[in-house]
Amino acid sequence: MSEILIAPSILSGDFCNMEKSVRDLEKWGGDWVHCDVMDGVYVPNITFGMPMIAAIRKVTEKTLDVHLMITEPEKYVERFVDAGADIITFHPDASKDPTACIELIKNKGKKAGVVFNPNVPVDKYAYLFDKCDLIVVMTVYAGYGGQKLIPECIDTIAYVKKLTGNKIPVEADGGINKETASLARNAGADVLVAGSAVYKAADPAGVIKELRG
Ligand code: DX5
Ligand code: ZN
Repeated sequence: MSEILIAPSILSGDFCNMEKSVRDLEKWGGDWVHCDVMDGVYVPNITFGMPMIAAIRKVTEKTLDVHLMITEPEKYVERFVDAGADIITFHPDASKDPTACIELIKNKGKKAGVVFNPNVPVDKYAYLFDKCDLIVVMTVYAGYGGQKLIPECIDTIAYVKKLTGNKIPVEADGGINKETASLARNAGADVLVAGSAVYKAADPAGVIKELRG
């Protein structure tokens, strides 16, 4: 696929000034706005929900890449679309009916994808791939920003690319920085999420450029 896209995660932004955090990532050359929604049930952490997506939608034209780390995402996806999400990804192991969940998103005219935590077997959900616009491979366990990349997860990126015949974009999420980005890129990742590596950098624009390779 073509050029690598960078999706800075606003989880590492300033929660007192999200508008600035979004404008900053635009200024630094970020492509998508990665929004990490956590419910304290599927993952042991709570972040934000639809009101935050709606607020961000008002201040940017960038693609809002909404990563749902919530149980029974099918109950909420339509409301996330209404809030302004462009892409919604969810963990299939958190859903009672992943096929229906994808359809709910796509019937609203938006892009849908599934996310694999490191302990979730990809093969079990490969039947969903031809309905997906994006597949996300977690390179850490979902739940927190600022973790260290788990090297074994890099093989999952290559495996998913192979299974999909390189036809569906793959996003790598977690622990991506100047050192690890090349591993994800070489394995075939098309989109790289980066939270702490971008927002905590002295030169975030320079980091984004380096992440692209
Ligand atoms: C982890 C989130 C990631 C995270 C990335 O649960 O899905 O998107 O914010 O943050 P870094 O890049 O700091 O690992
Ligand atoms: Zn994420």
